[in-house]
Amino acid sequence: MDLSTRIGAVTLANPLLTASGCGGTGRELSPYTDLARLGAFTTATVMGRPRAGRPTPRIAETPSGLLNAMGLPGPGLDAFLARDLPWLAGHDVSVVVSVGGSSVQEFAEIAGRLAASPAARPIVGVEVNVACPNAEDRGRMFAASPAAAADVVRAVRGAIHRDVPVLAKLSPDVTDIATIALACADAGATGLSLINTVSGLAIDPATLRPALSGVAGGLSGPALRPVALRCVYQVHAAIPELPIIGGGGVATGSDALEFLVAGATAVSVGTTLLHDPSAPQRILRELEEALAARGMARPGDAVGLAHRPASAGPQIARPRTRIEEFS
Ligand SMILES: Cc1cc2nc3c(=O)[nH]c(=O)nc-3n(C[C@H](O)[C@H](O)[C@H](O)COP(=O)(O)O)c2cc1C
Repeated sequence: MDLSTRIGAVTLANPLLTASGCGGTGRELSPYTDLARLGAFTTATVMGRPRAGRPTPRIAETPSGLLNAMGLPGPGLDAFLARDLPWLAGHDVSVVVSVGGSSVQEFAEIAGRLAASPAARPIVGVEVNVACPNAEDRGRMFAASPAAAADVVRAVRGAIHRDVPVLAKLSPDVTDIATIALACADAGATGLSLINTVSGLAIDPATLRPALSGVAGGLSGPALRPVALRCVYQVHAAIPELPIIGGGGVATGSDALEFLVAGATAVSVGTTLLHDPSAPQRILRELEEALAARGMARPGDAVGLAHRPASAGPQIARPRTRIEEFS
């Protein structure tokens, strides 16, 4: 099966990506997953300067997902360019670099230095993490405002070679995600990454205080999937031609297929990697089987199918069920 998928001018070998911040620098994941066989490895959000992140505890488990308030820790852009990107390049990995900033200027500077880096060759996309707090707007995240999100996308787009996709990673914590998506598309986003975590809170039953030092955190994992699917569906309905990397609680090939039919052109795996770092190859194999079982020749055959009325067009064959399974 031809598993390739296109995001703007770039063709990925397959539609399965890691989600930002969940695969370490790539080195930690590489003993379990052949990174060169991913559609792309997405880095943790790279900020301009080294950051320690929030104090612990910054992770809490909930019944159906993980709550994290990491605070975007990382060694900063210099270390990323000197160490992490060359390592990924040396391992033949396609890389989506997630960039963050507390001002539009910081986003633009990071993007400009990425573009000028001699190690830029493996970069197949720049993901713009607009869920970052905007220091110039009282810490409100860029993704909360169509204008602020568009300013960031425009600045990054202007700093990056035009063939390299710019993907805006949006937050579900907004009233109307399609409006934010449209603003990003108008500002030059090649596509979108949907979604970042949804804000949540856990109480420690022993102390009867918030379990995380940051009080609220981002909920990821299975609990997020219906929210993420809703966002992908709404944005695809508003801008059907815009490539979407969909993700939130993807753990199986069937989950990945749900994102494709909701309108995604590629799928990201995040929290699942934390307990099953070898999951990507399995999920890709399961997705391929799920497509083949429905008579589809490529992932593109599934994209957006859920938007068609069940009665319209050619019926998609349901996977065959053997009679013995019921006996
Ligand atoms: C521990 C952890 C760290 C994360 N770090 C980042 C990050 O640096 N940048 C970012 O855009 N998203 C980050 N995310 C969000 C994920 O990329 C993803 O959007 C989210 O977890 C939903 O997908 P999932 O349910 O498959 O994990 C992080 C998530 C987790 C759990």
